[in-house]
Amino acid sequence: MPRILVLNGPNLGRLGSREPEVYGSQDLAALEALLNDLAGDRAEIDLRQTDDEAELIGWLHEAVDTGAPVILNPAAFTHYSYALRDAAAMVTGAGLPLVEVHISNPHRRERFRHESVISGVATGVIAGFGFGSYGLAVEAVLASR
Ligand code: DQA
Repeated sequence: MPRILVLNGPNLGRLGSREPEVYGSQDLAALEALLNDLAGDRAEIDLRQTDDEAELIGWLHEAVDTGAPVILNPAAFTHYSYALRDAAAMVTGAGLPLVEVHISNPHRRERFRHESVISGVATGVIAGFGFGSYGLAVEAVLASR
């Protein structure tokens, strides 16, 4: 059974209370339960969250070293972290899928959210479907195997 790393960047640990009109009222534990239900015995979901850029980069290195596909919500790092981009490039460079996901559709929001420095090295991008973005990403990863 493949293990899918579902990695979440800064402030996503506050889901449920953070801007519910944008991100909904469910928390990360609810997301984890939803993805476990969806994956069933098709995949093991390893969901993590950090506010720390270095920790997130370390998890991408781990993905390369263990051959794990990645679903990544880089949160605000999406828009400016070249270090995270370089780490994401190592994942796809190793032939592993990396799906960039967003709960909201950044292109409908402030201008600074319109640029992603991650998309250019991702396998694909899914945005704007709430927690459904992650579910679609799980299906995309499994279909790519
Ligand atoms: C986000 C969109 C980003 O612009 C924002 O900084 C986030 C969440 C999303 O999932 O919609 O923290 O990645």
